[in-house]
Formats: sequence, C-alpha cells, structure tokens
Amino acid sequence: MKKYEMWVNNAWMKPASGEWMESMDPYTGETWAMIPRGNAVDADAAVLAAHKAFTTGEWPKLNATQRGALLRKLGDLIAKNAKHLAETEVYDNGKLISEMQGQLNYVSQWYYYFGGLADKIEGSVIPIDKPNMLTYTKHEPLGVVSCIIPWNSPLMLVAWKLAPALAAGNTVVLKPSEYTSASLLEMAPLFAEAGFPPGVINVVTGFGAEVGMPLVEHPKVAKVAFTGSDATGQKIYQAAATGIKRVSLELGGKSPNIVFDDANIDNAVNGAVAGIFAAAGQACIAGSRLLVQRKIHDQFVERLVAMGKSVKMGNPQLHDTQLGPVANKPQYDKVLSYFDVGKADGATLAFGGTRSDRPGTDKGLFVEPTIFTGVNNDMRIAREEVFGPIASVIPFDDEDEALSIGNDTNYGLAAGVWTQSMRRMKYMSDNLKAGMVWVNTYRAVSFMSPFGGFKRSGVGRENGQEAIREYMQTKAVWISTGDEPYPFVLR
Ligand code: NAI
Ligand code: MG
Repeated sequence: MKKYEMWVNNAWMKPASGEWMESMDPYTGETWAMIPRGNAVDADAAVLAAHKAFTTGEWPKLNATQRGALLRKLGDLIAKNAKHLAETEVYDNGKLISEMQGQLNYVSQWYYYFGGLADKIEGSVIPIDKPNMLTYTKHEPLGVVSCIIPWNSPLMLVAWKLAPALAAGNTVVLKPSEYTSASLLEMAPLFAEAGFPPGVINVVTGFGAEVGMPLVEHPKVAKVAFTGSDATGQKIYQAAATGIKRVSLELGGKSPNIVFDDANIDNAVNGAVAGIFAAAGQACIAGSRLLVQRKIHDQFVERLVAMGKSVKMGNPQLHDTQLGPVANKPQYDKVLSYFDVGKADGATLAFGGTRSDRPGTDKGLFVEPTIFTGVNNDMRIAREEVFGPIASVIPFDDEDEALSIGNDTNYGLAAGVWTQSMRRMKYMSDNLKAGMVWVNTYRAVSFMSPFGGFKRSGVGRENGQEAIREYMQTKAVWISTGDEPYPFVLR
C-alpha cells in the first residue's frame, strides 16, 4: 500500500505528528493509501516555505512571461500524466473513470489559459486632474495563498485556484480533502519537474480542523481560496476576517433545473440526469431541484424512472459504468439519511430511496438514484444541499412561479432552463439569481467562463479573465515632476 508524504520546498516531508490517515476506496470499501496527518506545525512549515519563496530567491525575480512559461510546462506534464492521475482520483473518490479521465485531459487548459493571461494583466494610466503628475496603476500579487480543496473533483478544483494564483505571482499552499489527497501528492513532483522554485507550490494534508484552519489563521497567509460546504466556508470567512485576509469561497448550492413544456424532452431528460445523477450528485452545481411544468410532469418523471432502472452501476474504473459509489462514508451516511428526511417531509418516492443491492455494488458505498416527487420548496430536501443522487421534483405552472420557486433558496450557484422560446430564455436568465445560467444544457464549465455563486453560494469568481484579479491587488503610483505646494491641505 502506498504511504505518502507531504510536499514542501520541492521535497517530501513527513508529518510532524508521525501519524498517517487511511484513505478508503469507496468501490471496494478498503483502505488503499496512507495519507500524512498534518497539523499546525506542518502548516507553519509550508507557509514559511511559501513566504520565503514569495519574498526571496528566483520566483519574485521572474517576469510574468516567464511565470507563464512555467505554467504551460506544468500543463504539459499534467497532460502527459493524465491517465495515471485520473485513475488515482477514481480510487480515492469513486467517481467514474470516464468523467475523471475527461477532467484530467481538460485540466491542462487551465494552466495554458492562465499561463497565457499572466503577462496580459495591464494597469492603466490615469488622466489625472493635477498638473505635472504621472499616475498609473499596476496589479501585484498578494503573497501566500492557502487553497483548500474538497473531494469531488480534486485536481480540477486545484487547477481553478493554483493556475490563476501562480499566474498572478503568488506562492501557494494547497490542502486537499482528507478523503482524496493522493492525486495531488502524485502530482506534486511535477511542480519541481516543471521548474517551479522550491516553496512556490506546497502541499499539506490532513483534517480540516487540524491543518486546514492553521492555513487560514497563519499571519503570513494573505488569501484563502476555498471550495466546500457553506458551514466550513463560514468558519473560514470568520477566521479570515480576524486577519483581514482576502477570501474567495465556492460553497455549493441547491440549483433549480427548470423544464418547460415546450422543451426538447430528450435533451431535457439528459440535462436533468446530468444535473443530479452524474457524479452521483456530488457536484456543487447539481441541479437538485428539478422544476417541471405541470403539463409534462408525469411523462417526464416516467422517463427519469426508466433511466434510474436502466443506469449501469458498478466499478467506477470501467468506462461503461454510469453511476459509481458515493465518495466517502460520512457522505454515504448523509445521503442515506436524506431518504428518510424526504419521506418524513411527505414527498413521494418515485424511485430509489435505498442503498443499492445491484450486482457489483455489494462492497461499495452505492445508493440508488432517487427521485422524490410532490416536493414542496419548503421541504428540507428542497432547501439543503444533499450532495448525492437525489432529485427533488417540484411541479410549476408558469414562468413566474418557476422563478419564484427557483429563487426561493439561500443559495445561488447555478440554474438550468429548458425551453425552445427565445423570449423565455432571455426572461428566465435575466431573472434567475444565480452565478451560472445554462439554457438547454447543464453542467458545462470552461477555464474561460466565470464560475461562482450569488448569495450563500459564495464570494468571488473562478475561471475566466476576472479570476486572476482575485489573486492580485491594485497599486496606484503617483510620480510628481513639479514642485510641492503649500503642505497643510490635501494635495
Ligand atoms: P468541507 O467543506 O468540510 O471540506 C472541504 C475542505 O475543507 C476539506 O479539505 C476539509 O478538510 C477542509 N476543512 C474542513 N473544515 C475546515 C476548517 N475548520 N478549516 C479549514 N479547512 C477545513 O466538506 P466535507 O465535510 O468534505 O463535505 C460535507 C458537505 O459539504 C457535503 O455533503 C456537501 O454538501 C458539501 N460539499 C460541497 C462541495 C462543493 O463543491 N461546493 C464539495 C464538497 C462538499
Ligand atoms: Mg478516499
């Protein structure tokens, strides 16, 4: 069994605690790797390494073009190792090899895109209203950035933070989830191979409270970038407030996927499935509230039930598997508990609602794809993020009712709309309170397009040009070429 170490200063580092945690393969139910149990001592070592790399040595001397070249090199190395990294992620979180291979083949694009963007961040010359003065802005890095990553798509979510943070000139400490640390530790030697100086990219592992919080609280950390639950996000935001640190938070959602009766139904069924059953529902952007217009409601539910029956469950390492296990035991227990919550709330179980006893699922953390109908938007299964394959189907009559239900949530990450009417596409996307609105598609993401939430779904945006600004601060420079006037008034 592989026993990993942490990665600090371009070298392996044993945990100060001398302890390792078990990482479980959710398909076999067996421990398959040992992950260092880091704590505040390790966090301190990593932050100090990152801080040193930010202030001295080669990294601060590189210009943005040179940083971009390093990022592109890293992208090439990830592309070369994509298959191995994808397989590692599947052992760790049980997501499908077809999905993780796709993600790992795609993830290099983040390093290419932000590598290319690195030397295109331009300041401006301000046409200042004072004589004999040159005033201009420049955009500078923040310093050490702590990136805290969840278990659902580890290396993709690493890329969303690491690529813009490095492009901007920061140094980074990464902390993957305690459930899925192996892929990032497999990737770590590529940082050195790409040519990043020691300390620029560090990885510490362990539990959130033990090693994650010290990375937030450390006085030498300038910014925290987090993806995960809103409960943890809130704690991080509070701790960051004490040090007046920058934060970006991506905190999941309860996204409405809204199907009108004029939609292409085949596409909408695929979109509904993509929204809630792909990745076993373990996606921040899950379309977990499925709003279906009343005229097509019964027919639509029938199609979903048929899909639930025929979906191929089993070994996530096989390319034709469609639904894998839930990623870890606490998450499995959480999903199972929501079957009872839905029933207790008075929703009707149209399909699923149990653990799976299909062939090939006996050892793993498998649950049946589950469809609750007759859901009212006040029920807990319509309000709380489950992060599992549970669709809450809510009927509606017209656009305004769909908007009122869709927007009646604390979250605002994503929304889907299925219709053939151009007027309706515009009206709905204008009025949905969400950071991403997908029309006649769902779960589409790109390095080019901003990603992030309204309301409790988070703070800041990842991906696209604005993401790099989350990792920079603006400096205004004033250069006077004249004489200094009377000093006792505002210049
Ligand atoms: P979590 O939000 O607690 O964990 C995410 C990351 O934060 C992990 O690396 C964890 O070690 C770290 N962390 C936890 N507590 C911390 C603390 N006090 N200080 C600093 N770092 C801390 O999520 P968890 O427990 O893995 O899953 C629970 C729920 O979170 C899921 O059921 C799901 O609803 C939601 N979730 C949302 C995700 C998203 O993409 N928005 C991703 C994963 C989970
Ligand atoms: Mg695991």
